[in-house]
Amino acid sequence: MRAYCRPFLLFWFVLLTSCFVLAQQNSTDIDGKIETLLKQMTLEEKAGQLTQFAGKTPESLKAIREGKVGSLLGVLGAENANEAQRAAVENSRLKIPLILGFDVIHGYRTVFPVPIASTGSFDLPLLEQAERVSAKEATASGVKWVFAPMVDIARDPRWGRIVEGTGEDPYLGARVAAAKVRGFQGKSMADRDSVVASAKHYVAYGAAEGGRDYNTVDISEQLLREVYLPPFKGAVDAGVGTVMSAFQDLNGVPGVANHHTLTDILRNEWNFKGFVVSDWGAVHELIAHGFALNDADATAKALLAGVDMDMVDNAYQHIPELVRSGRLQESVVDEAVRRVLRIKFQAGLFDHPYADASREKTDILTPENLQVARKLAQESIVLLQNKSDLLPLETTKTVAVIGPLADDKASQLGPWAGDGQAKDAVTPLEGIVRKLGNDHVLYAKGVDIPPYEGGQAAGVAAPAPPSATGARGIANAGKAASIDDAVAAAKKADVVVLFLGELAGMSGEASSRSSLDFPGDQLKLANAVIEAGKPTVLVVESGRPLDIRWATYHAQAILQAWFPGVQAGNAIADLLFGDASPSGRLAISWPRSTGSIPVYYNHRNTGRPTAPDRWKTGYLDLPSTALFPFGFGLTYSNFSYGRLSVKTPQISQDGTLEVSAEVENTGKREATEVVQLYVHDRVGLTSRPVRELKGFERLTLRPGEHRSVDFTVKASDLGSYDPQMRWVVNPGTYDVWVAPDSASGVQGEFEVK
Ligand code: BGC
Repeated sequence: MRAYCRPFLLFWFVLLTSCFVLAQQNSTDIDGKIETLLKQMTLEEKAGQLTQFAGKTPESLKAIREGKVGSLLGVLGAENANEAQRAAVENSRLKIPLILGFDVIHGYRTVFPVPIASTGSFDLPLLEQAERVSAKEATASGVKWVFAPMVDIARDPRWGRIVEGTGEDPYLGARVAAAKVRGFQGKSMADRDSVVASAKHYVAYGAAEGGRDYNTVDISEQLLREVYLPPFKGAVDAGVGTVMSAFQDLNGVPGVANHHTLTDILRNEWNFKGFVVSDWGAVHELIAHGFALNDADATAKALLAGVDMDMVDNAYQHIPELVRSGRLQESVVDEAVRRVLRIKFQAGLFDHPYADASREKTDILTPENLQVARKLAQESIVLLQNKSDLLPLETTKTVAVIGPLADDKASQLGPWAGDGQAKDAVTPLEGIVRKLGNDHVLYAKGVDIPPYEGGQAAGVAAPAPPSATGARGIANAGKAASIDDAVAAAKKADVVVLFLGELAGMSGEASSRSSLDFPGDQLKLANAVIEAGKPTVLVVESGRPLDIRWATYHAQAILQAWFPGVQAGNAIADLLFGDASPSGRLAISWPRSTGSIPVYYNHRNTGRPTAPDRWKTGYLDLPSTALFPFGFGLTYSNFSYGRLSVKTPQISQDGTLEVSAEVENTGKREATEVVQLYVHDRVGLTSRPVRELKGFERLTLRPGEHRSVDFTVKASDLGSYDPQMRWVVNPGTYDVWVAPDSASGVQGEFEVK
């Protein structure tokens, strides 16, 4: 080693050693403080630390003062938060601070695109930045704990909560989960603008039979481990502070009482050190599951399985009697209390329990925060079709803006919009008017989307009344919806932009649908408008993929906007008129029809792989492939893929795969491509998925520019579970693709020795 390097190395050695010693000291300090507190706690106070109530009410404040509550849910605003906190810190015997939680699924007040959309940005730094914004806004409002990220894999878009998750891919899900945890928790959970995150809903909630929310899940251990667990592992490896158990039963055992997932896997295999909270009322629901006799029985079962804190049903008040009767050992309770207190210490709540109310004025809905929302919305919207390069539109044209979602503020925000407020949202109509001015825009709502009134959906919110927007001067604004007005507008315009889809309340929790159709008379409107014969752009706003086969024939361009959030209208207008170029991709395979669910790219081959031949896996009346594959999305340019080079044609089981390919922008505009790496293990100990995503990179190229994109993957990440559930890296030949989506790309192969 050269002599001049030595002092430099010594410096790093001393620095790292001191950091390590400090971290050790810190955790020893915390452990000491926890033990001191534990010794002073009565059984009732221990049960209190493990109990969460909903809302700040006279009853909850009284219970806090009595030491019977460790956390509140849904208390917003610094003043409210501080009032509740004072009851704990100043008026309870042991002065243990509360941890205040809330659902910040896609933004607090600055609402970002729904997660199924933003995952498709494949932009991890931007997703991290968005959650930093969420953490900053939430803490300014007194929230120190968020019930996010929601990382449930889903393959069935009938399930309403597909909108909240990261789509169908375990690798992408794990990367996004980690980025979001880093964003929420920042450098330290103790920082004033950081929150404690909670990965949910552990686990396999998205595999609900029939896509019906809360429904039974029965899947193999292999599917659980290879598909549903990885996003949670990603969150745990990123240091997530808490995990929320799921409502549903998994192979017969409810998520809240599942020792296998909560203790064997989460704690023993993964070494998770934070605490687990149940989902809303789920401990009590063990009775309805037929898994517990009463709340006391349910409490014992949940606690013994590994659920530390009980959300809202107050079942854990039975802890003292369970311990006194000998049903529950006090050491089990103590361990749960330690975990909760440790997170409270790590979150800095003992040092600074109160929110700084002045930050509510400076940190929420700032222009910088809105800018992040606009960028993420631009990157989340997916261009599915662009015949004859209709998009981007010229700003000199007259545009007919038609459809029930064009000026619906509430729906822009999506179904679980934190403290988001409809009045903050920019509608597509407003965004387009801001670009073109009133004179170039004709607006007609066309039809209303009727909320579901029967069956389970009786609670779906009625559509918001027409907003008083920048479109005020426009003919038809505020008028009752009429298809005739829409057709008249289309006839007068050079181009039609049609905004169809679902109301925000038609996806999300308890909002499963039996069909992927456009609700109400929207297709009647679409047909009538298309008859007018003008070039038409369909913009779909929805929480799930809808059946858009008709549009692939009748609309020149299709943009899947999902619910883009508070900056929806600006981001959509940026893309429509070319101020930004689409780069969003599908985080799920797009089904052709409701009947083709489930369709996911990482399926197994079967003994009769899909082919146009009758005696192969498939349907008589429909191709069994996706309408648009996972990872798909167009840009305003074209990219070619070539020169795939497998630099490591042979690797050992502990080696590293290195692959590169050349990607060139062959079009006329600068654009961003999401370059994806897939592999396929040809022969395994179980039959392997036809492709598995193992890497991706966002790449912006100018026209004519080309770049070599390099990927490295550890061989250990190419493994799978054998029938005995051991992780193995199979020797043999693997296919590899560098690709623009999961159904194409340039292909090569390599060997694992
Ligand atoms: C949902 C959770 C949520 C909790 C608290 C439940 O109904 O399933 O996702 O975090 O409520 O609001």
